[in-house]
Formats: sequence, structure tokens, C-alpha cells
Amino acid sequence: MCGIFGTIGKRDNALSLVVEGLKKLEYRGYDSWGVTADVDGELFIDKHVGKISTVGTSRFEGIKSNMAVGHSRWATHGGVTDINAHPHFSHDRKVAVVHNGIIENYHEIREELGRDKFISETDTEVIPQLISHYLKTMEFKEAVLEATRRLKGRYAIVALHVGDHQLIAARRGSPLIVGVGNGEYFLASDIPAFLEYTQDVMYLNDNEMVVVNDHVEFINIETGELVEKRLINIDWKAESAEKGEYDHYMLKEIMEQKDTIHRAINQDSEEIMEIVKAIQAARGCFFSGCGTAGKVCMVGEYFFSIVADRHVNYAPASEFPIYHHFLKPESLLVVVSQSGETADVLEAMEVAKKKGTKVLSLINVGSSTIARQSDYSLLINAGPEKAVASTKAATSQMALLLLIAYAVNGELQEGRRVLAEVAGKINDMLNPRFLNYIKSVAEAIQKHENAYIIGKAQNYPIALEAAIKIQEVSYVHAEGFAAGELKHGPIALVTEGTPCISLIANDEVKDDILNNTIELKARGAHIIGIAPEKHEVFDDWIKVPDVGVASPLVNIIPIQLLAYYISICRGLDPDMPRNLAKSVTVK
Ligand code: F6R
Repeated sequence: MCGIFGTIGKRDNALSLVVEGLKKLEYRGYDSWGVTADVDGELFIDKHVGKISTVGTSRFEGIKSNMAVGHSRWATHGGVTDINAHPHFSHDRKVAVVHNGIIENYHEIREELGRDKFISETDTEVIPQLISHYLKTMEFKEAVLEATRRLKGRYAIVALHVGDHQLIAARRGSPLIVGVGNGEYFLASDIPAFLEYTQDVMYLNDNEMVVVNDHVEFINIETGELVEKRLINIDWKAESAEKGEYDHYMLKEIMEQKDTIHRAINQDSEEIMEIVKAIQAARGCFFSGCGTAGKVCMVGEYFFSIVADRHVNYAPASEFPIYHHFLKPESLLVVVSQSGETADVLEAMEVAKKKGTKVLSLINVGSSTIARQSDYSLLINAGPEKAVASTKAATSQMALLLLIAYAVNGELQEGRRVLAEVAGKINDMLNPRFLNYIKSVAEAIQKHENAYIIGKAQNYPIALEAAIKIQEVSYVHAEGFAAGELKHGPIALVTEGTPCISLIANDEVKDDILNNTIELKARGAHIIGIAPEKHEVFDDWIKVPDVGVASPLVNIIPIQLLAYYISICRGLDPDMPRNLAKSVTVK
């Protein structure tokens, strides 16, 4: 949530560089943007409501500076206004700060420093004011150190002080990475922002500060001691974080599922077996994640039951802390997260660690905080996912959970075989005819304000996930139900022509869900059947391959495409849905 990008070094067009970097982070927040630089000893600030993607490359041409910082905002404290946009600055306009996170004690600090000095409604403004306050008696570095020691809550910040040729960044709970280029440095919330300049990074951990000028110096905020860091090379290619031939990241990422399942299951057998041992030894295994990743965990619950005969408990990460009563050193928490930065997941991990419970994570961003703080971590290797709506990461996560379930049952090779077949079938599915058919179904649904989705067994969580996908990118009110629950209330919502999607597989619950679909039809619903075989109850039939227990992996694909095309038909931007951000780093 919120994108931060800063640079210092050899180029004198730092402001333009920052704008271009922020455009690559816009998926993190896009209600307003702002940049700052030290231009001839004065603080230059430009900040506005709106998307950074609309800012032209020539806007800062001719404004020379080799050090600049910018921010793309997802509002938490204070409405979406020019004044509340970042950077925020001290009342003497000497210090500017961009921030991602929430400062919990901002009220108290604001009162202490004098309310009349403040012009915005944000929590962030206390940071430059506090640094400025300490600057009366200290150097910039000490002032930032002192200020960060006062902050409660989560933050990633970058601070700039006029006349000081250095950028200072600090973090606790929100992501920030240092990109190390040739004669230049970058500070960013995520790697794609600087991938075209460097693949070499250094990680800033929680409670650390970094001073960047012609070299970098990492400092432990609590002790003030220097911290040694290693240079790490990231093997992501700049092109993999671009849209390429596609109009939107969402469509590109849906199409990439032709390859991503292969990459997810291509795991080192020894690592998988180490994880299998941890799962087998655990007395009490919990799955947790948020949103789509949470629905993946629910699918995993079914996979473990069906394939491995094993019971696991799922709880959304935001609800997980209450389960601390059941956690023991012998328990295992398995967390699923694309970004590896989700605040609720980090909190669930904190709760588990306090009880001595080990944590296994399935992550896409290997450099992320969750990956680094886990006892075991497996990468899903889906490559950068930039559309706010998660697609390829979700199928890769499901594939990996299914592979682990097979491995727990002593059938790792069988798991690989099943999933390789699924990957091949997804490749066949994603052809132009299939896409065009789904587009035509989307054109019909987009005229409705409500849509309902039903699923059973491992396709029940897919019904919930389908609702998330459709809601978030098309704003159609979609709800997912366990098929058997319909007659206990929700069926009252169905009227003549209401679009209802039924997710069916060739499995032991097929006849039950077909009966539930017929009940919907009897109330006038327009039935869209996603199924391997045609049935007379379907008004529209979206054919999916028969892949047995792995059906969630193929049933979700037409749903992702439906959500995408409904959004397009409604004239919306599926990559940047309103009120959302890709990486949710606040609780
Ligand atoms: C919806 C979506 C979100 C994320 C959720 C968790 O399409 O993408 O629901 O799944 O915010 O994010 P990660 O996986 O990064 O922890």
C-alpha cells in the first residue's frame, strides 16, 4: 500500500526518474501522487490528486537535481486531497518525507509539537515536523534516528533534508528495498521500480535505517550500531514486469498461467520433503492468508483432506490471532501470500512465533518480509504480479499446495504428473476462441447489478474467490456460496434473469451441485455452467477440462477472464480498481 521511490546518484534528472519509477509501483496505491527534490537549495514539491500514470515525461524537464523522492498514495489518514498527498514537509520547508504505513501515536506527537504547525490531516506529517524539531540540536542522521525511535506503528519512510546530500530511509513493518546501481542508489517499496537500472539489492530489515549518499550505511534504530549487509542479485527481468503486447496487466497475467503452473511445481524435491516432514511432525496445522490467498488456503484444506487424508484448519489472517489459544511449539502455521508483505499475515506470524510455532510460507516475492521471517519458505515463481487482482499467483499457490498434499501422502511424483497435465490443459484452454466466448458471456452479465456463484467441496472456495474477482474489477455485486447453503437463505435473492455461475467438476459431489443448479434455474436464474460436460440446465456452458481433484485450478480461469471482460465492457480499468491497492501493508 502506497508506493515509495527515491534515487540519488549520477543523473541530474532525478525527478523524471522518480516519476517513471513510481509508475511501476502504481499498483500499490493510486489516489494521489507527489515528488520532491532539493533544487538549488530549495525544497521543490509537486503533489496532486490523481494517478501518476497520467504525468507526462516532460513535466520535470529542465529541473536539475540528482536526488529526488516520490510517492503514490493509498489514503489511510486524511481524505484524498492535494494537501494530504505525500511528500509531507516541515513547516520551515527544509525536510520532506514520504511514508507507507500508519503512525499510531501521531496525535500525541502533533499536540506536543504544536497543532498550528500542521497543514494536513495525515499521520505522516508528524515525521518531517519531528525530524525538523530534532534538527535544532542534531545532524540530519541523528535527527532521523531520534524521530524514528519516537514513532509507534508501521512505517517505511524516506526523508530528504535541503542542503544535505543524502537520503535517509527507515522501516518497521512496511517494505523498503535498496537498489544498488553503478554510481547510483534507489530506495523503493518494490523491486520492479528500479529493475531497469539494477538487479542488485540490499534489504532493510525492521527497525533499521539506511543513510544513502555516495555509499550506504545501515544502522540498527534501537542500538544505533552499524549493520553489515550483503548484496543480493535478483533474477527478475525488467520485461517480465511490463505489460508487453497486452492492454492490461490482468490479461497478461491470466495468459501467463500457460507457464506459471510449471514453474510452481518445479521445486527442489529435497526442499519439498523437508516441508513434508515438518507437516507430518506437526500436531495441529493451520493455513492462513488474506483475500484471494485466503481462498487458496481454503482450497488447500480440501486438497489435504482429499489427497493426504489430513486435517488442517484455515483462518483468514486478520482472524488468526484469536487462535493463539490452540498454538503450541509442535503446531505449524502455513501462510500463503503473493507479495509477502501483507500486514495481517505478518501479525499472524508474530502471534505464532510468540507461541514457538514454526511458520512455513508460500510466497511469490522471495525478497519479502514474510519469506525472510519464515522458518521454511517456498517460492511459487510466478514472476511479478502487478494487476491488483491476483490471478497467476493464485493458481500457482493452489498448484503448490496440491503438490505438497501429494508429497505428504508419499506421492510426490504422482503430484508432479497430475499438475504437469493440468498445466498442459490450461495452455490449451487459453486460446482466442475460448477468450471470445467468455467475452460474449461477460457482455451479457455486465448489464446486471448482481451475480451469484455456487461451488461445492474444493470448488466452494473458488465460488468465494470468483466473487472477489468479479467485485473488485467490475463492481458488479457478486457473492459466492456453498451450493448446499442456497436453500438456507440466499436463494431468496434470485429473480428472473439473475446471472448464476455454477462451478462443477467430475467428482463425487457433481450430482448434488447439479441439483442445486436446477433449483436456481427453477427460480428464473440465468445459469452459466463452468463444467467439463454440458448439461441441459445451462443457459451458457463454459467448457473446462476434466482434471479430477485439481478442478479449482481450471475452474478459476474462466472466472478470471469473465471478471476482466466485465470490467472492460463497463469501461473500467481492471488493473487499478477503485479503493484498492496491491499490497496491503496496513492492518
Ligand atoms: C484479490 C487480491 C487480494 C490479495 C490479498 C492478499 O484479487 O489480490 O485479495 O490476495 O490482499 O495479498 P497477498 O497475497 O500479497 O498477501
